[in-house]
Amino acid sequence: MSRESEDVLRSLPTESRFYPSYRYSSQVAAAHSSPDSFWSSQARKLEWFRNWDKVLEWEEPYARWFVGGTINASFNALDRHIHTSRRNKVAYIWEGENGEVRSLTFQDLFREVNKFANLLVAQGIVRGDRIAIYMPMVPEFIIAILAATRIGATFSVIFSGFSAMALAGRLNDSKTKLVVTADVGHRRGKVLKLKEIVDEAVTSAPSVERIVVYRREGKDVDMKEGRDIWWQDSIKDVKTYLAPEHLDSTHPLFILYTSGTTGKPKGAVHGTGGYLTYAYATQKWVFDGREDDVYWCTADIGWITGHTYVIFGPLLHGLTSVIFEGTPDYPTPEKWWEIIERHKVSIFYTTPTAIRSLMRHGNDLPNKHDLGSLRLLGTVGEPINPAAWEWYYDIIGGTRCPIVDTFWQTETGGILISPSPNLGLVPLKPGSATLPLPGIEADIVDENGSSVPLGVRGFLVIKRPWPGMFANLYEDPERYKEVYWTKFPGSYYTGDYAVRDKDGYFWLLGRADEVLKVSGHRLGTIEIEDALMGHSSIAEAAVSSRPDPIKGEGIIIFAVLKRGLSPSQDLKDGLKQQVRKVLGPIATPDEIHFVSALPKTRSGKIMRRVVKAVASGASIGDVTTLEDEASVEELKKAVEEFSKTVSG
Ligand code: PRX
Repeated sequence: MSRESEDVLRSLPTESRFYPSYRYSSQVAAAHSSPDSFWSSQARKLEWFRNWDKVLEWEEPYARWFVGGTINASFNALDRHIHTSRRNKVAYIWEGENGEVRSLTFQDLFREVNKFANLLVAQGIVRGDRIAIYMPMVPEFIIAILAATRIGATFSVIFSGFSAMALAGRLNDSKTKLVVTADVGHRRGKVLKLKEIVDEAVTSAPSVERIVVYRREGKDVDMKEGRDIWWQDSIKDVKTYLAPEHLDSTHPLFILYTSGTTGKPKGAVHGTGGYLTYAYATQKWVFDGREDDVYWCTADIGWITGHTYVIFGPLLHGLTSVIFEGTPDYPTPEKWWEIIERHKVSIFYTTPTAIRSLMRHGNDLPNKHDLGSLRLLGTVGEPINPAAWEWYYDIIGGTRCPIVDTFWQTETGGILISPSPNLGLVPLKPGSATLPLPGIEADIVDENGSSVPLGVRGFLVIKRPWPGMFANLYEDPERYKEVYWTKFPGSYYTGDYAVRDKDGYFWLLGRADEVLKVSGHRLGTIEIEDALMGHSSIAEAAVSSRPDPIKGEGIIIFAVLKRGLSPSQDLKDGLKQQVRKVLGPIATPDEIHFVSALPKTRSGKIMRRVVKAVASGASIGDVTTLEDEASVEELKKAVEEFSKTVSG
């Protein structure tokens, strides 16, 4: 057993036993023994225009779900409700960073989505075109997405914290025809000039023919005649209904770019029928929403969590959701508690980073507010440390609310491993996502693909397809096969380390590849290294991370300057700027160390394991293959010096 697994197991509570409920066990058994009929019964909860001929066509590694069926996402999210008493139910309560509040009923949303769909058609968008959305967290973000799905345009959301260059890369990769944006957005009191960023991006993205601009603030922005139109002006004369396209179940619903182990982001393509079925099923199993719940998933729509659990999951179930434009501690670190109290939020889903950053402000702020409406809490995106879990449970949940620690990924479409209040809760253990949901055949394997015994760390794999699974990487099937299906043939490789305890509970132990999780955001070390190499002073760079008490991981850079240059604060600032320019503010480095060499093997490869160990202060282990041991000492010294400066 490895040292790390021993440490994890020692920290586990010993008293709890594993008692899955009857309902949970029977669903797991049904999904295992007859997956086709199990997933059919889930899919039947949605409305299809035409039934499928085949539940799953599995030609490894490609899964096609509900083949022959036709469906429409916006129809299932909206049309179904407006013919029922849910018509006047609030779908979204939105709060702006400046305190502005708007509510949209299902009927309101239906009307606006239909209008925007008509606007897209008037702009020449047809089924199969790609449209990109680069928006602040306003309801129009959701309207634009649903409108795209109504006409069968594949949407691609780019988080508004990505730079013009990062945006351009994604627009080009997916050959986007139209971009939806806003004049500005707000983040922590700062104005983000979104339209300006889009303008810059499209100078190198020739496929973009149209830009639709939502007037968020009436700021003066350049509008290019014949290319740019204002949302509000163009929507005035369009009709309020457009019949939804009947789309094949396998029709690409969206592309979402995510970081991997090369410099180029991966465009995960999700189909329609399978994804919606999985969003519907997991929303129910994990969050168990009821008609009178007020549900708040704090994710930005720029990430997969926003796609599945801000938009599709809750809308398919006709739930009332809260959306908030701001970050957890802006304008004040009690804003979130105020919102929960004001709107009587009952289900609250957020990230460990947010919990830790709010925990830092103490108990008085949450204690000032009545959080008694809460009945269920959730976390996602990174492992949660037991101290943050306990605080969330005691102070926010008032020891009444179970916490669902949900493990999943951009590629998986929906939650894979999590407690399930709907199917029967098992005893919770702080820091464990507990057990796989029905239909998810998870295993932990060693380098050779053999299952490891309980208590031993290994690689997390999923052994059969599930409906939420992404269909491919956009126009890159080779990379799709290589990254996910080659390491362990026949299984989907998550890229995560995990261990199972004696009760069979899964503990996620972080990424096993060159991917970082900074504030829950996924960033590739090589992507950051590539960005740095664009700076004229850099000869070489290695990017790594160290544990960060709030953000989970902090980005650390070891850089070798070109001959003749000497380290300076100006150069450090320049490098930070460089990363922000290429990738955006979310990738801003935390520490930069200038060194004269990087630790390399005799064959010239950077020893990432060594860099990582130095960056995080862990033991370095065997370095006998190292070309130059002095470089390790130098890295260590750089980090020590830095810690002294910080603590001094
Ligand atoms: O390392 C795992 C971590 O987040 C990765 C997926 O990141 P992304 O595609 O951005 O999706 C995040 C939101 C679904 C995983 O490979 N991760 C996600 N959830 C958890 C987690 N690590 C531990 N515990 C979790 N609950």
